[in-house]
Amino acid sequence: MKKHFAALILAVLPAFASAQAVLEYPLDKANVDLTDKAALQDGARTFANYCMGCHGAQFQRYERVAKDLGIPEKVMMENLVFTGAKIGEHMKTGMQPQDAKVWFGAPPPDLTLVARVRGEDWVYTYLRTFYEDPARPWGVNNKVFPNVGMPNVLASLQGRQVIGCKQVQVVEHGKKVFDPLTGTPVTKEGCDQLTIVPKTGKLSEAEFDEKIKNLVSFLSYSANPVKLESQRVGTYVLLFLAFFFVFAYLLKREYWKDVH
Ligand code: HEC
Repeated sequence: MKKHFAALILAVLPAFASAQAVLEYPLDKANVDLTDKAALQDGARTFANYCMGCHGAQFQRYERVAKDLGIPEKVMMENLVFTGAKIGEHMKTGMQPQDAKVWFGAPPPDLTLVARVRGEDWVYTYLRTFYEDPARPWGVNNKVFPNVGMPNVLASLQGRQVIGCKQVQVVEHGKKVFDPLTGTPVTKEGCDQLTIVPKTGKLSEAEFDEKIKNLVSFLSYSANPVKLESQRVGTYVLLFLAFFFVFAYLLKREYWKDVH
């Protein structure tokens, strides 16, 4: 009986896996550059202004962020700290978890590690794919997180995003198609597409993407603040090993000279 049960599970599993694959929304690449301090600073500002009302980054301290990102302490306190916290404190949200549960159904999770848990591309795509859906409590739904409990807090910047029809580039066998003569992208009308209603947001589509990229850069830094430092130290370690190898080799030659 047990054997049959195991066989049944094995037979059914691939079906689940492929159903999942069909439903998943393709993720856009965030292409985060952690060495770009200006981008990280902009991301930190967006995070403090638009996210910290609900989310915290409670494993991160304001002081550390100021130091790592090159933000003077005074500027940090005036522009990024709204909860009355001191510079040495953790970046906690002002919201009480029990209130959040009542208001949103699900408490907004802490975001210190979200770029690592979900992946940078996931967070980047998630923040850009909210769209209007009157059936949902906040009037919005999301492509990568269906029936999400979070309102679209960036709508004033992005504008109203709806599901509509627009010209999209033709893709064949996973590759974008270009006209062989002119080199321009081949397009066709596609419906069920995310479309921004023109002139409803403060930023253009490209500017908004850049803003979100910066925000994701900040979240990525916050999820692993020592990453840059470890890459730097790693380079020195490799250089040292290469240097050491020369001497090790010369020594080996010296020792084996009489044996051969
Ligand atoms: C008004 C409150 C509110 C604000 C402001 C807000 N969020 Fe959220 N967020 C939520 C709630 C509630 C959830 C949980 C949604 C759920 O589980 O359905 C959530 C979920 C998320 C998730 C998914 C986390 C996970 O792994 O499940 C991410 C990422 C996120 N928010 C990022 C942000 C960012 C970045 C900002 C700032 C631009 C922001 N949020 C602003 C309420 C908020």
